[in-house]
Amino acid sequence: MQTKLLPLVYIALAISLAGASCQSPVTSNMQAAADSIPGRKWWKEAIIYQLYPRSFKDSDGDGIGDLKGIISKLDYLKSLGIDAVWLNPIYASPNFDNGYDISDYYSISKQFGTMEDFDALLKGLHQRGIKLVMDVVVNHSSSENEWFRQSRSSRSNPYRDYYHWWNAERGKPTPRWSFFDVNSNAWKYDTPTNAYYLHYFAQQQPDLNWENQKLRQEIYKMMRFWLDKGVDGFRMDAFQFVSKDTSFPVFPPGYEKDIIRYYGAGPHLHDYIQEMDREVLSKYDIMTVAEGAGSSPADAMKFVDPSRHEFSMAYHFEGVGYGNYAPDYDLPGLKQVYSRWDSSFESKGWLSIFLGNHDQPRMVSHWANDTPPFRDMASKMLTTFIMTMRGTPYYYYGDELGMTNIRFDNIEDYRDIETINKYRHVKQLHGDLKQFLASRKISARDNGRTPFQWDSTAHAGFSTGTPWIKVNPNYKTVNEVSEEQDPTSVLNYFRQIVKLRKDHPVLVYGKYVLLDKDNPGIYAYTRELNGKKLLVLLNFKSKAATANTGIDLKKATLLLGNYVSPSKGETLQPYEAVIYQL
Ligand code: NOJ
Repeated sequence: MQTKLLPLVYIALAISLAGASCQSPVTSNMQAAADSIPGRKWWKEAIIYQLYPRSFKDSDGDGIGDLKGIISKLDYLKSLGIDAVWLNPIYASPNFDNGYDISDYYSISKQFGTMEDFDALLKGLHQRGIKLVMDVVVNHSSSENEWFRQSRSSRSNPYRDYYHWWNAERGKPTPRWSFFDVNSNAWKYDTPTNAYYLHYFAQQQPDLNWENQKLRQEIYKMMRFWLDKGVDGFRMDAFQFVSKDTSFPVFPPGYEKDIIRYYGAGPHLHDYIQEMDREVLSKYDIMTVAEGAGSSPADAMKFVDPSRHEFSMAYHFEGVGYGNYAPDYDLPGLKQVYSRWDSSFESKGWLSIFLGNHDQPRMVSHWANDTPPFRDMASKMLTTFIMTMRGTPYYYYGDELGMTNIRFDNIEDYRDIETINKYRHVKQLHGDLKQFLASRKISARDNGRTPFQWDSTAHAGFSTGTPWIKVNPNYKTVNEVSEEQDPTSVLNYFRQIVKLRKDHPVLVYGKYVLLDKDNPGIYAYTRELNGKKLLVLLNFKSKAATANTGIDLKKATLLLGNYVSPSKGETLQPYEAVIYQL
């Protein structure tokens, strides 16, 4: 192997081996610090592990991950030290959009198992002290949902107004742009009733009509059903889009380039969230997270300002959207984005922190460097970022192994409706398909959806059958079993930093201050709470880089670093991460 990266260990050994010396004062301080923090909530302190059920573990050899598979790995989840699992949708679905098209909100997809399996999973998680957050997908349903079957059957059907219809005798509907439609058209003509229905996503995902009170009550009932089973929270899919101006005004040309502004601010959006809180959420000790929350910190605050009684937290996309997947993005700009969002939520409201999820390429491929000499350090460095920022960390399955983009060459390998329909779109326009496929290697969602790499046996130990999507060929070296055996692995670093965050409430609640903001290679910041101050230095580049914080590190105590031999001063090795107590 090359250069100095060979002995990849971290000082964290110091935590586990010499742990006693640095641990005990920390623990007692922790208690004292925790006692004097206003506004504490379990969901602010939780580390949430996002688990993509299709790709986690297959128990029955059909090539698709399932609930029994997850159950067989509960002890693994426990070993990570995480507090909650967010499960992508597991409801009945024809899977045009991998479960984000629900045909029955009250049953489990046959591919994933049964309601008994679900109950066993929930119980198994709870027995291990892990909470469960479910995806709630109610901007739209599946076109195979019984509500939609009824709705499209006649104009006078009682379910007609569960969806948005535009009768054809009014002429063509006002244009609406669609995320997944081959022609980007969000209206689909439906012959039985001579009318168009609205679908912001795929044709198979008709938008539910939240302006209809009956529909809203139906959704609240469904949410109570899952909460009464004991689930601990909801991730509200695409919720910012639910309210629509049903007069469907004409939007100015080019509005689709600023789609959140036009789709994300419906006239009654916040009334509906407050109604949901009154009728459902406030009755349970749960957390909710809004997927997207307008286009600015001020918009997002409306969702999470505690005095408004809406959601617990939100995630914004300015961070993951930064640089538009450019592998060589400008770090000072990225720092500015995170710093701006942090300062807007400094005194109230709460955000999530994430660098990857099922809609993103793999974090290390997108934000750092997944080539063999760097993948390991770069993954740990990004993990350090997620775990030391203010906000609730959402950590995507497989990132704890340092899983990477698969980079398919052929369209036939893709499974995601987004990529497949975009490909058709480019083809229809006689566009450059080669260039399209090249760009997908960087940005496609399927890059982040490949099977979890358990071991070096066939199909990475994910399934005994043929996986629904190819396994990343690097599974022979990047896998759980081999990382378990290596105390310096990405996996074991993840466990150490999870523990570090839990031992230091300053990492959850502490004030964040950006240092050395124009440094093109290093992201440096402090976190401070009740007299305790930590310094985080992260080298985002594949070359050595020097921070200039003005802080005398000789007096600082190193808590954790990702190298065996961490740098002593402010010059960091490639992708090095260090956390000091000042
Ligand atoms: C956001 C989800 O994260 C994504 O996977 C899905 O395709 C859309 N919402 C539509 O539900």
